[in-house]
Amino acid sequence: MQTVNSSGQLTLEQALAMINELMLAKMGRTLSDPETTLLEGTWNDDNYNVIAEGTPYTVNYLKGHVAPQLWNILAAIVGTGKKVTKTNLRSFLEYLYQKEHSTCSDGGITEDYSGIEPLKINGEPPDASIFFGRSQELSQIKQLITDYKLLSLIGIAGIGKTALAAKLLKQISTSSNPQFEQLIWKSVAHAPTVQELVTDLIHVIQGTQSSLPLFESPQAKITVLLQALQSRRCLIILDEIDAFQTIDFQQRLEYRLFFRRLIEEQHQSSFIVTSRTLTGDLKSLLKAKRPLQYIKIKGLDSESAMQLLVANGLAVDKKCRKLIEMYYGHPAELQSVVERINYYFGGSAETFFHNKTTFVSPEMQSVLDEIFTQKLNQTEHKILLCLAGFTTDNPGLISFNKLLNNFPLILNKEISISGLIEALECLENLSLIDTFKDSNSKELYLCLQPVIKKYIFSNFLGVITTSEASQTILLAS
Ligand SMILES: Nc1ncnc2c1ncn2[C@@H]1O[C@H](COP(=O)(O)OP(=O)(O)O)[C@@H](O)[C@H]1O
Ligand SMILES: [Mg+2]
Repeated sequence: MQTVNSSGQLTLEQALAMINELMLAKMGRTLSDPETTLLEGTWNDDNYNVIAEGTPYTVNYLKGHVAPQLWNILAAIVGTGKKVTKTNLRSFLEYLYQKEHSTCSDGGITEDYSGIEPLKINGEPPDASIFFGRSQELSQIKQLITDYKLLSLIGIAGIGKTALAAKLLKQISTSSNPQFEQLIWKSVAHAPTVQELVTDLIHVIQGTQSSLPLFESPQAKITVLLQALQSRRCLIILDEIDAFQTIDFQQRLEYRLFFRRLIEEQHQSSFIVTSRTLTGDLKSLLKAKRPLQYIKIKGLDSESAMQLLVANGLAVDKKCRKLIEMYYGHPAELQSVVERINYYFGGSAETFFHNKTTFVSPEMQSVLDEIFTQKLNQTEHKILLCLAGFTTDNPGLISFNKLLNNFPLILNKEISISGLIEALECLENLSLIDTFKDSNSKELYLCLQPVIKKYIFSNFLGVITTSEASQTILLAS
């Protein structure tokens, strides 16, 4: 892409072409007429009155509506955290130009523009070009995969595990010093058998469809895979290993052994697995101090979530931050609520908040249906109900002590402290509750995300009885 004229100075036409190209790649559209008008005027350092003259747009419309949104869009598509304003637009575009020619390849726009021949990614990771924030997680992961053979990314559905892993792979593939010889992406959502997965990985690593004797046992095949992982330094991402929990007992045992051997035996490769919870097998290997680690993925930070909202077409107003807080920066839920705000409330978070409600996306609803019917026991249901009743403020916190004192009343019988703690651990592992420690008092606080609270109160599946619900809410009030 050509961005400067022969004198080396960026021209307006070239700047507009550069922005259009970026917007098209990242947002699937180019600049609208009012946006172009605004950019042209801003480029010439005109004030809003001059910019609006002779155009069909009012000053208020350009200043109050088009401008704030466009500055956010520009900041969002570049994704380096730099703020764009009318005053710094020109220097921002110069900065963009500089970035395009920079040799650094770590994050933001540079990776898309660097001249490095990318390392091929085997497999089909999702497109990671529209991606905001997570720089801390990305550098943490890069560090951990040099120290551990297996890293597990865990977090509630839609929180961004797959997107993060895909972004990581993309960054490593365009890095000037990739540290891996081969990058492999494999979705295992279809729950392949160990045999199928291992055979597949061997073929990808060895670059051949060649003969692995048919009669070879799974363990013999894993040995061949380990040799391949020793001879080439590979980074392998297995996305959605939750699927392994749905397979039969024999296969689950085989997977247990598979992971154990990957972690315990000699090789120079690394695995990243994504799942909603830390699976039991990995948990016990972790306890046994084997070389694996996990990171719990939480919502996007406020700035990145704001970029996500803008990229999804939401008009920026003071309620956007509230929206982000309400959904704990959960990207999929934010995308889903923005879709509804755009459709029903003219893209205004402020109007949406006049009619206060919490949406639970259909995807989240089915994930929670599954968890509530298949994964939780009665005690865990009741704890959630109790938390939902206590945390009616938004976002509400409840101290562990308060829960402890009130819990026997709700259950109508004594519950052992260890029983309560076990249940809380399970709920936290399923990302249904979050915990925080007060740094001064060291007291533990629990909290329930509004989406989950809404689900509980909406009583989607009738899994929680009305009498339990009313009793709990009564106690909590
Ligand atoms: N950092 C991010 N920036 C932009 N979009 C994101 C980000 N993280 C997640 N998303 C989007 O949110 C949705 C859910 O993310 P996904 O990675 O599929 O979640 P998970 O794998 O945890 O279920 C996807 O549409 C994804 O593109
Ligand atoms: Mg996923």
